This record gives sequence, C-alpha cells and structure tokens, in this order.
Amino acid sequence: MIVTTKDLFKQAYGKYAIGAYNINNLEQIVGLFRGNLGKSKKNADPSDDAKSAPFIIQISRGARSYTDKAFLEGMIRTADAVFPEAIFAVHLDHGTEEACYDCIDSGFYSSVMIDASHEEFGKNIEITKRVVDRAHAKGIVVESELGQLGGVEEDIVGSVKLTDPAQAAEFIEKTGVDSLAVAIGTSHGAFKFSGKQGLHFDVLEKIQKAIPKDFPLVMHGSSSVPHEWVARVNAAGGNLKDASGVNEAQYLPAAKLGVTKINIDTDGRLVWCAVYRESFKNTPENFDLRPPGTEFMAAYAEYIIHKNTALGSAGRLESVRAGLKGAVSPCGCCGGGN
Ligand code: G3H
Ligand code: 13P
Ligand code: ZN
Repeated sequence: MIVTTKDLFKQAYGKYAIGAYNINNLEQIVGLFRGNLGKSKKNADPSDDAKSAPFIIQISRGARSYTDKAFLEGMIRTADAVFPEAIFAVHLDHGTEEACYDCIDSGFYSSVMIDASHEEFGKNIEITKRVVDRAHAKGIVVESELGQLGGVEEDIVGSVKLTDPAQAAEFIEKTGVDSLAVAIGTSHGAFKFSGKQGLHFDVLEKIQKAIPKDFPLVMHGSSSVPHEWVARVNAAGGNLKDASGVNEAQYLPAAKLGVTKINIDTDGRLVWCAVYRESFKNTPENFDLRPPGTEFMAAYAEYIIHKNTALGSAGRLESVRAGLKGAVSPCGCCGGGN
C-alpha cells in the first residue's frame, strides 16, 4: 500500500526513523520489499512481524533516466501487488523543480524532494514554496534541504555548510514544507569521514528546539558503509580504500531528536558490488545472470532487515497499519490509501 511520507512520519516521530532506500533496478526492488517484510531468502518465506517495517522507496533523477522512469513505476506497482502487506511511500530524491513537477503530475509519487540547497537562502525559499504549492494541491508532500552536506572529507573548507537552526525555523514557516533535510555532518557516498568525526548532535538539538514541535527532519548521506562489506568488495578485487560511514548506533539518538527519515543508498550499492564481484571471482565458468541476482536479492533483503533494526523501524509494520486505519491522507497515486 502506497502512503505518503507524512502518514509514516506521524507515527514514527521521536521514536524511530523510517528507512528511505534508493532503488534502480528489479533486484533491488524485490530485495527491498522482502527485507521490509522480514523475509530472508525466498519469496515463499512467510513475513515476519518482528522484523517487518514501513519504508520509503527513493528514486533519484539518475535512477529515473537509467532506463526509463516508466519501468520503475511499473516494477513498484507490481511489487505492491506481489507484496500486498507492504506499507511504503514513493519519493523523488534530490529533485529539481522540473523533476518535481513531472513527479507531481505523474500521479504516482506520494512525495517529492526539491533540492535547492545550493541556492542562496531567499531563492531556496522561493523555489521550495512554488513546489510546495503545486504538490499540496494534489495531496503530495514535500521535503526540502537547507545547508550543504560534506564532501569526501568533512574538514574541506567550502564543502560543508551545517544547517543554521534559526534559518531552519524561518525556512519552514515561509515555505510550508512538510519535512526538512538538514546538514549535520554527513555526506553522500562511501567516504564520509577521514577521522573520528560523526554527527553534530549539538546542532541537531538546536534545530529541533528552533522549529515547530514534532516537525520531521531528514538525514541524507546516512549509509554506515559497513567494514564487512567494504572488506568483501576489496577481497574480491575491488579498491575502496578508507571507506567509512555513519555509526549505526547514532541512528536512534538522532531519531529521538526528530530525524524521522534516514537515507540509505551507498550501503545497498556495496552489498550489490560485493555479491557480484564474489560471484564472478568464485564461479568464473558461470555466465548466467540469475545466480548472482538471486544471491543479491537475498543478501539485500537480509541487509534491509539489519538496517531497519538499527533504525528502530523493524517490527513496526503492524502498529503502523493499525495507526493508518481511517487516518490515511490521500496519496497522489490513487487519492485513497486504505
Ligand atoms: O543522494 C543521492 C543518491 O545517493 C542517489 O544517487 O543520483 O547516483 O542515483 P544517484
Ligand atoms: P548515502 O550515500 O550515505 O547512502 O546517502 C544516500 C542519500 O542521501 C540519498 O539521498
Ligand atoms: Zn541525499
């Protein structure tokens, strides 16, 4: 069932974070749905309530143009039919104004992100407000970003602009946006920290105090870049030196301070890369695409279960379903939601 991110945030706020996972292809979609239903290996596995979680599927502009955006929509609709127990939102990740309008008008996406964080403050407000007006008219919710995430190394001058708490309050008031991505020390990709840096909880705390009560914050660049997966990639011929990510033990403390959506893309790519590299290395005689694909879907599902446990969303699916009954705001897809 496709719902809006807002529906999910209402229930999660302050308790746990919803995993927002980027997808690009069929195997990722199948692994993602299985994992979020607590299924480990096969489609035939029964769902496991203790592991099942609500989730957000994120589609970047790169993912939309990788093949044709219509394929992603078709595969997600099919996954919704194959896994009818799943509860999820469909979200445009890092949209331009044009991409946001395309998604809003498509009637498929339940939320969009307008990323004008590179613009100066006033212009970011102006652009975000335009998207909010157009999205809200169709019941679609909007995420925007304020501040700039770090580059490969957090201390590179000019690459980081932590979110200013006072500006965050003004931004939310002037735009009417539904959630805000904040820069609190993370960065995209597999090389987030050069030393012992981590999240700036002091800044996050100030932001939470400055903005309206229970307003959902979003943390991009939140992959944990697990040592185990990086080591497997490297052992199978990869070359990911000094990769590092967010400490998973920091997800729940961040959730308690209002971070309700946590974005994960890189970790999924690492799982993909390790499984395929190992498969090619260990079975050089194989030229069938299905054995590594099968292995990847199972490994990715397991990884999603692990990640949802760290986010605190594992085991929440049935309580979210109960909470949604009669209280679902219409999504862009069907105007309903129940
Ligand atoms: O934040 C960006 C996501 O990791 C998406 O990456 O644009 O390469 O699909 P992508
Ligand atoms: P990672 O690169 O840490 O997975 O972040 C993904 C992200 O923020 C997508 O918007
Ligand atoms: Zn991002």
